Parts: sequence; C-alpha cells; structure tokens
Amino acid sequence: MANKDLKKAKIDKNDEFYTQISDIEKECSNYKEHFKGKTVFCNCDDPYESNFFKHFAMSFNSLGLKKLVATCYAGSPIANKELSLFDDETIENKTTRSPHKIEITEIPDMNKDGAVDLADVKLLLSSNKNNLTRLKGNGDFRSQECIDILKEADVVVTNPPFSLFREYVSQLVEYEKKFLIIGNTNALTYRDVFRLIKENKMATGITNFNVGMYFIVPDTWEKYHKIENGKKLVRNSNSCWFTNLDHKKRHEKLILFKKYSVTEYPKYYNFDAIEVSTYKDIPSDYDGIMGVPVTFIDKYNPEQFEIIGLGISNSGLEIGVKPYKEEHKKYRKEIQKRGAVDGDLYFMKNDVVDVPYARILIKRKGI
Ligand SMILES: C[S@@+](CC[C@H](N)C(=O)[O-])C[C@H]1O[C@@H](n2cnc3c(N)ncnc32)[C@H](O)[C@@H]1O
Repeated sequence: MANKDLKKAKIDKNDEFYTQISDIEKECSNYKEHFKGKTVFCNCDDPYESNFFKHFAMSFNSLGLKKLVATCYAGSPIANKELSLFDDETIENKTTRSPHKIEITEIPDMNKDGAVDLADVKLLLSSNKNNLTRLKGNGDFRSQECIDILKEADVVVTNPPFSLFREYVSQLVEYEKKFLIIGNTNALTYRDVFRLIKENKMATGITNFNVGMYFIVPDTWEKYHKIENGKKLVRNSNSCWFTNLDHKKRHEKLILFKKYSVTEYPKYYNFDAIEVSTYKDIPSDYDGIMGVPVTFIDKYNPEQFEIIGLGISNSGLEIGVKPYKEEHKKYRKEIQKRGAVDGDLYFMKNDVVDVPYARILIKRKGI
C-alpha cells in the first residue's frame, strides 16, 4: 500500500471509535437547559449501536425533548454488526438492516412498570413502525435527505467521523445549528476550526481537554488497551468535546499567580509577544500578546482573554525563508494543508525550544 493510502487507512480507522455512554452522560448532563423542548439530531449514529441515541432516548422525558432523530450511515464497516442497542437482537436483524432514520416524539411507559427506560424505547420501536424509516440514500450526513433533517433540528450531538471533521463542522455552521460533538484536539489548529474558536463561535466542552477518552472499537480489532463489559476499548489521548452551547466553564476565571519578568518570559525574535510555556504561568500583569500552549483553550474565558491568532513557533516557516531543518519540511506541508498564512496565523522564532510547536496568541482583557 502506498504511504498515502496507509495514512488514510489509519485515519479512517479512527472513524470507527464508538463513544462510551459514561462519557456522553458526563458531558451532556451540563447542558440540560439547552435541550428542553428541542429536537436533537444524532446524524452519525446507528440507533442500534450508538450510545448517543441510547443516552437521549433514556433521558428523553427528563430533558423534556421535543424530538430525537438518529440516522445511520451505510458505509460503516461495522454498522449493524458489532454493537447493539438491544443485547438480544439477532444477527440476521442487525446485518440485513439498511440505512435508516429513527424518530421519536414521545416515550410512554410501554410496559407499564412505572418507569420509562430503555425497555420502553425497545417496545416503542418494535410496536410502532412509524418511528423507523428506511433512508433513500446511504445516510451520509452531507446527503440532501440528511440535510433536510438537519434543517429541522435544533441541536446536533454526536461523535462524527474524524476524517470528515472540517466538512462536518462547516455544514453545522452553514445551517446555523447548535452542536455538541467530539473531535480531535489537533482540529484546533485547522484554520477554519481555529477561526470559529477565535471568534467565539465554538469552544471546547466541559470534560477536561487533555485527559483522553476510551472508545469502543470493533471486536475484530487486535490492538486495544483494555476490555470492559466484553467490549474492546482504545484510548485516544487527543479527543475532546467541541460546542457552541454556552456552559459554566466558559465563564470561570483562570486564577493567575505569576508576575511578569523580562528574564522569565522571553520574547519572540520576530513577533512582539512573550512565550509562556504553560497556561498556569500566564502573568497577571502583562498587557501585551502572549504565546500559550494549545491546552490553554480548555481554560479560555472570553471575558478574561482575547484570542489574537495562532502562532507556529520555531517552524522555520517564515515567508521566503527555507525550512532550517529537514524535518520541518514535513511540517511546512502540514501547515500548507491546514491553511495559508493569513491574518490569524503567525510564524514565530525564539530560543526556548528548537522544534516546531503551536501557540495560541492571547491578550488579557481589562488590564
Ligand atoms: C467516530 S464514529 C462514532 C459513532 C457514534 N457517533 C458514536 O459516537 O459511537 C463515526 C461514525 O460516523 C460514521 N460515518 C462515516 N462517514 C459518515 C458520513 N459521511 N456520514 C454519516 N456518518 C458517517 C461511521 O461509520 C461511524 O459510525
């Protein structure tokens, strides 16, 4: 396989990371007020295998949802095979199902046991065929029929395929949808994603940014980190939540302990900003531009800081200057792929480290 194809295969593999219900509950429980009376759409989710569907079906009544819709994609190599919403579903049922949409507008106590839970969802789906519709196409979130459902939805919540993350986000922005989705922290340095963050149209979620998450992977995977409840789990240290729903963490002020000193905070040679190597060291009294690690974004409160741009340090990528180390050529390609130099992107140099690294350029507000 050519190198390019191998890389693609690796990326596409990450598209088959299935989210654990505990991670969904942990994040979604912070946004209750945003779901009341709303239509939630999970558009990369086979309801029979997705914990997103399961979570919103189980909390349909307590959240006061108006409608829950999920659509499933035909291209998934494990769709309808490996995981199941209902543990007793037969293999034939799972493998013969074609791309479909499930729509729920109420969950009554179907089995009259005094509680509304997953058993009622199961009974509802099996007794009322109106909830389940076959899709005409393959369930691609970009297909017209899925876009038509998107137009009717209020909030989109899912873990979309990472290889299509940019396209996925730009579609949500185009249709002006609220969203709460899982992505990769690397996406922060994509020009279009970064711009949304800078303009406060998207933020990271509440779950801590750099702790990583365990995802369920298909049974056929030979490499995994652990098995829990019979499911193979793989840890991805770069996963985080992205949202344009307001949340409490976004209003929390970062407590700053340090004071600025010329010796402790070196300036870049070619850019008027200081290097701050961890967000904990942001000086409380510096009113100029500061270059902080990307992890800062998790602590970013737009009332306290302003984002100026994205800095790429020591990349040797200044316009007209050749990469000064062989390995930087690779990085240059990466940068070019992510976006050309423009108003948001700065290339900077200093002596602190001699490898390329990304910095968010920020300024304190109100000092
Ligand atoms: C990272 S997995 C997550 C699945 C599920 N949302 C979850 O969190 O457990 C991404 C899912 O998107 C599906 N998918 C891939 N390409 C898609 C597309 N173009 N449109 C819709 N879904 C797609 C994949 O098959 C896979 O099931």
